[in-house]
Amino acid sequence: MDVILERAKLPPTGKVVVPVGVAGDIGKAAAELDARTQGLVRRVLDDAGHRWKHGSMLELPFPAHSGLDRVWLVGLGKDDLSRLELEQLGGSLWNALVKVNGGLVTLASPDGIDLPLHPDLVQVALVTGLRLRSWRFDKYKKAEEDEQQRGPERLTVAVIEPGKAEPILADANAVVQGVESTRALVTEPANVLYPESFADEAKKLADLGLEVEVLDEEAIRELNMGAILGVAQGSRRAPRVVVIRWNGAGGNSDPLAFVGKGVCFDTGGISIKPAAGMEDMKFDMAGAGAVFGAMEALARRKAKIDVVGVLGLVENMPDGNAQRPGDVVRAMSGTTIEVINTDAEGRLVLADALWYTQNRFRPKLMIDLATLTGAVIVALGHEHAGLFCNNDELAARLTRVGEEVGETLWRMPLGKAYAKHIKSDIADIKNTGRARQAGSTAGAVFLEHFVAGLPWAHLDVAGTVWSSRDLPLSAKGATGYGVRLLDALARSYEDEAS
Ligand code: BES
Ligand code: MN
Ligand code: ZN
Repeated sequence: MDVILERAKLPPTGKVVVPVGVAGDIGKAAAELDARTQGLVRRVLDDAGHRWKHGSMLELPFPAHSGLDRVWLVGLGKDDLSRLELEQLGGSLWNALVKVNGGLVTLASPDGIDLPLHPDLVQVALVTGLRLRSWRFDKYKKAEEDEQQRGPERLTVAVIEPGKAEPILADANAVVQGVESTRALVTEPANVLYPESFADEAKKLADLGLEVEVLDEEAIRELNMGAILGVAQGSRRAPRVVVIRWNGAGGNSDPLAFVGKGVCFDTGGISIKPAAGMEDMKFDMAGAGAVFGAMEALARRKAKIDVVGVLGLVENMPDGNAQRPGDVVRAMSGTTIEVINTDAEGRLVLADALWYTQNRFRPKLMIDLATLTGAVIVALGHEHAGLFCNNDELAARLTRVGEEVGETLWRMPLGKAYAKHIKSDIADIKNTGRARQAGSTAGAVFLEHFVAGLPWAHLDVAGTVWSSRDLPLSAKGATGYGVRLLDALARSYEDEAS
C-alpha cells in the first residue's frame, strides 16, 4: 500500500475514511460530509441506539447526495486519546479496508476535532497502525489465494502541512519497516533461516549505513565461547555471532547494547522436546530478530545515538556429536557450566554473547531479548514479557516506553535466594534451576553471572513474539515484539541528549 500525503479537502468522489469527533465537535471533513448528505453524520451521532464513541466504525455504501462511493465513519471522540490508541484504531481500520481490492482510498483529516494530538500526528498514527496490521507473509503462497484480501493499492492521507508531516511519517515508517523485517525473519522456517543465512541477512543491513561484522565458528572458537559452541556442536549448521553497529552519535560515546537469543531452531537437543508444537521452535530466534529489526529502524530513521546489536545464532539439534546432559562447558568468561538439560540452551548462548558484548563495547547499558522459558508464559500469558533488571531506573524506563508502544513488560525478581537454585555440584553453576520453581527467574539469575557492573535488563519474550490470534497491530503469527520497544528506549535517551 503506497501512502501519499496531500493537503486535501474531502474529495468529490471515491472511497473515503472520515474521522468523526463527538457531537457538536465532529471535525471539518465530517461537517462537510454532513452538509453534502443533508445531515447524515449528525443523525448517526445522535442515534442513541447506535452509541457512537471512540473506536466506533460505520461503513456507508453510496451515501446519498455525497458523490462518494463508500465512506467509513471512524470515531475518534475521546479527549485523552493516546498515540497507541490511534495506532490500534488504524489497525482496526485495516480490517474494514482489506475488502477494498486495489484502487484508491482517501483518509480525510481529523482537523477540527478537539484532540490532544495535532491532526497530522493523528494521521501518522492511523497510517502506522494500518501498516502494522496489514503486513502478512505470503512468499510461499500462490498469488490467487488471498485475492479478496488485498486492501487498497494507494492511500491518500489528507494533512494540514504536508512538508512538516512528511518526515514524521517517514520516521514512523522506518520503525514499521524494522518490525516487518523482524516478523519476516521470525516467520521464516528453519530450513531457510539458519545461523549462516541469518548472518547473510544481517550483512545486507550495511546498505543502510550499519556496520556489520560476522564471527564465524573459527572466530567463536578463538574467543573461547565454549557455551555457544556446546549448543552448536549438535547441529550440522555452524554458529555465528553477528555484531551490528549504528553510530548515530559519532561512535565515540558508550553505546546502548541490545543482545538477542538467536536459536534458529530449538529441538531441545538430546533433552529433546515432544513432537506436538515443536514446529513453533522456529521462532526461538525472535530475540535476535527483534534486535535486527530495531537496528534497522534506528538506521532508517537516522537515530542520533550509538547502539550496538549482537546476535547469538545457533541451531539446537540432537546429532551424534551433540552435547549430553551432564556435560561441563567453559564459557568465555571462564565460568564453568554443568549442562543438566540441553533444552536450556538459550541461556548458554546468551552467556557468551552478553560477556563478549560488555567486555568489547563497554556499553552504557545492556538489554537482552530471549524466548528463554516456557515458564514465563505460565506466569504472564501472552500479555506481558517478563522483565528482569538489576537497575530500578532502567526497569522503570523500559516499563514506561513499553506501555507507550503497547509492548508491555512485567517486572519479576532476581536475587541471592534464587541464585542458589543454579548451584552445581561439580561446576560453578548449572543451566537449570529447581523443577517447577521460578523457572524464568532461574534463567535470569543464570544470565546475571555473565553481567558485571552495568545496568542490564533481560526480557523473556517467549510469550509475546508469536500470537495464535489476530492482535490490534498484527495479524496472527509473528508480532515483531521488541522492535518498537527498543526503538522507543533509544528515543528516550536521544531526547535526553538533545
Ligand atoms: N525456547 C525454549 C523456551 C520456549 C518455550 C519458548 C515455549 C517459547 C515457547 C527454551 O529454550 C527452553 O526450552 N526452555 C526450557 C528450560 C528448561 C529446560 C529449564 C523450558 O522452558 O522448558
Ligand atoms: Mn530449549
Ligand atoms: Zn530455546
